[in-house]
Amino acid sequence: METSYRAVPIAKDVYWVGAIDWSLRNFHGYTTHRGSTYNAFLILADKIVLVDTVKKQYKDELLQRISSVVDPKKIDYIISNHAEMDHSGALPEIIREVNPEKIFASTMGVKNLKAQLHLDCEIVAVKDGEELDIGGKKLKFIETRMLHWPDSMFTYLVDEGILFSQDAFGMHYATRSIFVDECLRGTVEHELATYYANILMPFSALIKNLFAKLEKAGLNIKMVAPDHGPIFRTPEDVNWVLSLYKEYAEQKPHNRAVVVYDTMWGSTDKMARAIADGLAHGGTEVRVLPISGTHRSDVATEVLRAGAIVVGSPTINNNMFPSVADVLTYLKGLKPQNKLAAAFGSYGWSGEAVKQITDIFESIKLEVVDSIRIQWVPTKEQLKECFELGVKISKMLKERCP
Ligand code: FEO
Repeated sequence: METSYRAVPIAKDVYWVGAIDWSLRNFHGYTTHRGSTYNAFLILADKIVLVDTVKKQYKDELLQRISSVVDPKKIDYIISNHAEMDHSGALPEIIREVNPEKIFASTMGVKNLKAQLHLDCEIVAVKDGEELDIGGKKLKFIETRMLHWPDSMFTYLVDEGILFSQDAFGMHYATRSIFVDECLRGTVEHELATYYANILMPFSALIKNLFAKLEKAGLNIKMVAPDHGPIFRTPEDVNWVLSLYKEYAEQKPHNRAVVVYDTMWGSTDKMARAIADGLAHGGTEVRVLPISGTHRSDVATEVLRAGAIVVGSPTINNNMFPSVADVLTYLKGLKPQNKLAAAFGSYGWSGEAVKQITDIFESIKLEVVDSIRIQWVPTKEQLKECFELGVKISKMLKERCP
């Protein structure tokens, strides 16, 4: 059927039928500078299978892409790999439209889909490792609980070696270039790291276990098709994304530091600049992120591969700046590991902010190196102390990351 939106073949009898959200700039608090895609996949075998759906408002785009290949009413099975609304929002209407023979999800997926979408149809719970014969092709389900929701699972198309990996290995990157090898590599790497930092970093220990699980399952992964962003289809790109995820999950410290701060009358800014200069003088790559121009999710991306995080705030009404609290509350939830940390800030009379920042560092088990609190405007000598703090952190980083 002639439609405005077309399916894109990704392998024999397998199609991308997702939607592109060019204008998305906020994904539950994460700034998505490049928009996103909600990927869904159509598999033609004796049974016709739809893997995942899209955000509710893109239901028609999904149906049109499917219609360019097959009448949507011919879909036999729908598989929900992940119950979050960006992949399930359109599910109730798609179920009404398609009237599938069966719907499959993980055990937690059944619960979460019913609770969120108030579905009254039956959803079949599949077990970890269970296989489903769809006539001429075979699917295998791999539970990936808490990556990043309790319901998350992968679906693996066995002979084709396609891993439909829902959010894992994905990125918020709106592009009509369906494959990674058609995109700018630097952009892909940046958006992949941003996605990991903002969505998956708290689950890094589970991701290390996931690799052991995938190896044990003996999968021969030839293509990684996530639910956001382009698909990894060449052996080089599949190895690349798997190795990047292994590196992210390890959270090995690098000789790189992030200085993130806000300022009231410029004194904390002066301190940040002196600390950054000390870090650079010591041989550390430094990223200086004034919060007035940096979103919390971009701070998280920089923190992912940094070995040290240095946070500065003035004190206002006995508290750190609300903008600094915003970033730290967000980072606390993301639980970055294996990092040195230091706090700094200028104050007028009470000066609680530096201790408050240090308390947050300790609560997430970062190794606190030192802190500097300066009353009013820093003198030359005090700025030298800031510079020396940068040098000290750099020296410690170099010992850890030779
Ligand atoms: Fe893309 Fe967790 O939803």
